[in-house]
Amino acid sequence: MSDIYDLVVIGGGPGGYVAAIRAAQLGQKVACVDKRETLGGTCLNVGCIPSKALLQSSHHLEMAKHDMAAHGVKTGRVTADLPTMMGRKDEVIHGLTQGIAFLFKKNKIDHFCGLGTIVASDTVAVSGDDGSKKELKTEHILIATGSESATLPGLDIDEKYIVTSTGALSLPKIPKKLVVIGAGVIGLELGSVWRRLGSEVTVVEYLDAILPGMDGEVRKRSKLLFAKQGLNFRLSTKVTGATVSNKKVMLSVEPVGEGDAEIINADVVLVAVGRLPCTQNLGLENVGVKLDEKGFVVVDGDFQTNVPGIFAIGDVIGGMMLAHKAEEEGVCLAEKLVGQKGHINYKAIPGVVYTHPEIAAVGRSEEGLKRDAIPYKVGKFPFGANARAKAMGDIDGFVKILAHKENDQILGAHIIGPGAGDLIAEIVLAMESDISAEDIARTCHSHPSLGEAVKEAALAVDKRAIHM
Ligand code: FAD
Ligand code: NAI
Repeated sequence: MSDIYDLVVIGGGPGGYVAAIRAAQLGQKVACVDKRETLGGTCLNVGCIPSKALLQSSHHLEMAKHDMAAHGVKTGRVTADLPTMMGRKDEVIHGLTQGIAFLFKKNKIDHFCGLGTIVASDTVAVSGDDGSKKELKTEHILIATGSESATLPGLDIDEKYIVTSTGALSLPKIPKKLVVIGAGVIGLELGSVWRRLGSEVTVVEYLDAILPGMDGEVRKRSKLLFAKQGLNFRLSTKVTGATVSNKKVMLSVEPVGEGDAEIINADVVLVAVGRLPCTQNLGLENVGVKLDEKGFVVVDGDFQTNVPGIFAIGDVIGGMMLAHKAEEEGVCLAEKLVGQKGHINYKAIPGVVYTHPEIAAVGRSEEGLKRDAIPYKVGKFPFGANARAKAMGDIDGFVKILAHKENDQILGAHIIGPGAGDLIAEIVLAMESDISAEDIARTCHSHPSLGEAVKEAALAVDKRAIHM
């Protein structure tokens, strides 16, 4: 016997579960299928949440070891207790994934655990691990199957010695030597975690700078700060293969330009070279859903695939591979399905790297504006001149606002420093509301607060910062 739904969502990550909740709020009968036992997708189970839990715990360790003494707090000998740290991380995941299960119940969403396969444009088959099979009939299907780690030729991922982010979030002991391939977001966040816990970390990056796509000034400053903390960088370096023997990894690398090949030895190698869309075993060929040349599901402005009634959102359609982007798309899609307008502004989606200092960005980089010949003004303010940052003893970094030269519209902002991930929200709101740098500059910010650095950067756009 089949159930009939208005919407069947395949994938219970931040895209899928948020779409399911919003659709249910709007009166739709909704089912969500995920092959994982717990909801929350990559983000809650093996992504955003576990990485942030470990970043927080390892940051406390770093503070206790190096920073608290300056505040007059004596700690004695401080050591890492990895099992407790990992246990705490698992509890955080458990609490949050159970929270989504509760929200599903509250919103009367049916949750099916199993592999979802599209059989026809109105039918999703669910195959459970226990061999059970079920067919769900539905008016609309939403593909929200997310992404998985990419790897490199010549590297066999075993999640023990050569690991993806998933393995790196659960290492059973602190590796003496960790090599990270890729100086992107995952490489820097998880590289920071293990360095703080005591690993000697080398980050191998193909390009000649870290954090591709970010503002050039932030890329330069962050590399200096991370190197000072003890991350070793091997830029412009290509990985050509790896072998594992006697519990060690021998990683073959060579310079991107001229130079000799060499072997780097490691206890663990983390491969963090980007993520690929999950479209395998999904039955897309049964209905002819179109993929682009990189394997992402092709959708139009309404998240509609080329097959009527089948939609897609989140990492599987590409763009910024971020949880909050997937969530916004989920809400927008659910609203469009019931005839509402829906809303998403891709120009105002922030990105945050949760290292210390944090790095946050929204909108255009200076390099991008130059490339497109858009006239702009820069307002910059260092945390070293912010009273709250001084009081905290956390003064590395700056706020940088880019505004249009003629009309003062905020085009982008880049923050490196304490609380960057939260401070950026004010600028995102400003961009979303289309208010100018002058408007932020004229807004009262509490004192002493890190937010005053945002106000001062906005004042600096007009060359009138007060405390600089
Ligand atoms: P996913 O979260 O990947 O969810 C897709 C779900 O679909 C999965 O649960 C999967 O099991 C399921 N699925 C796939 N195929 C099928 C099928 N055929 N049948 C049934 N189920 C299926 N983003 C941020 O914004 N902030 C961060 O701090 C952050 N940190 C990250 C840290 C790490 C280590 C990683 C790996 C990623 C991080 N991300 C972060 C990215 C973020 O996790 C993703 O952008 C986000 O999870 C994408 O959401 P999604 O719903 O599109 O897909
Ligand atoms: P990424 O795209 O951020 O970085 C990958 C890095 O690997 C790049 O610097 C790239 O130049 C490098 N690289 C690629 N091929 C290489 C090679 N052969 N040798 C050496 N270096 C190579 O991808 P990453 O870090 O894997 O993250 C994947 C996604 O997950 C990102 O899109 C990111 O948005 C998301 N994510 C977001 C987080 C956040 O918002 N805080 C945290 C972690 C992940």
